[in-house]
Amino acid sequence: MTRLHVISAATRPTSSSRPLTHWVAEQAHARGGFEVTPVDLATIALPFLDEPEYASTGNYAHQHTRDWSALVDSADAFVFVLPMYNGGFTAPFKNAIDFLYREWQGKPVGIVSYSAGPTGGAPAAEMLLPVLTRIGMRPAERSVAVAGIPDLIGPNGFQAPEGLAEELAGVLDDVAALAVLRTHETVMA
Ligand SMILES: Cc1cc2nc3c(=O)[nH]c(=O)nc-3n(C[C@H](O)[C@H](O)[C@H](O)COP(=O)(O)O)c2cc1C
Repeated sequence: MTRLHVISAATRPTSSSRPLTHWVAEQAHARGGFEVTPVDLATIALPFLDEPEYASTGNYAHQHTRDWSALVDSADAFVFVLPMYNGGFTAPFKNAIDFLYREWQGKPVGIVSYSAGPTGGAPAAEMLLPVLTRIGMRPAERSVAVAGIPDLIGPNGFQAPEGLAEELAGVLDDVAALAVLRTHETVMA
């Protein structure tokens, strides 16, 4: 069973990310093959990077870093639920990525971006890709971009537009396939 962490990459108290993350986690659970853990970046509440040593050393001075490290380390794969702010990804999420290094390495990741406008945050996902590659993650070939997010959040949470569940299923299939590949590579090493 692949341990999949679905990370809500937003910190605003009224963020649309929470209902969307809930829906993504539900879909992943229903698909099967994943042990799903939703992670809310707001509750992780990391400060700006305050570690004296580089993350690549794995020497962490602060308990908040050790906790974050343990949480990320316990995942085999991720889905990042990513808002777009001013055409890019959010500063708190980049900060959370930079806190760690080895914990991300080799792990598959699918991206579900979203925005108020018509792009669905695809430019933020594009911007994040080189960062993910730089830290040795394996991004899924497919991604999902959810446009017009404010209109999709109602009293019952996120209301997926037609076709979105199928698009997400493609991303989850990619992530699952990359996770299997990683397991084989680890066994062969
Ligand atoms: C600082 C900020 C910048 C934003 N910039 C954009 C933008 O460039 N394009 C867009 O379509 N929506 C933009 N939005 C709207 C967000 O995509 C939309 O409000 C989304 O719900 C924000 O995610 P959040 O609810 O998780 O904070 C912006 C919102 C914020 C708070």
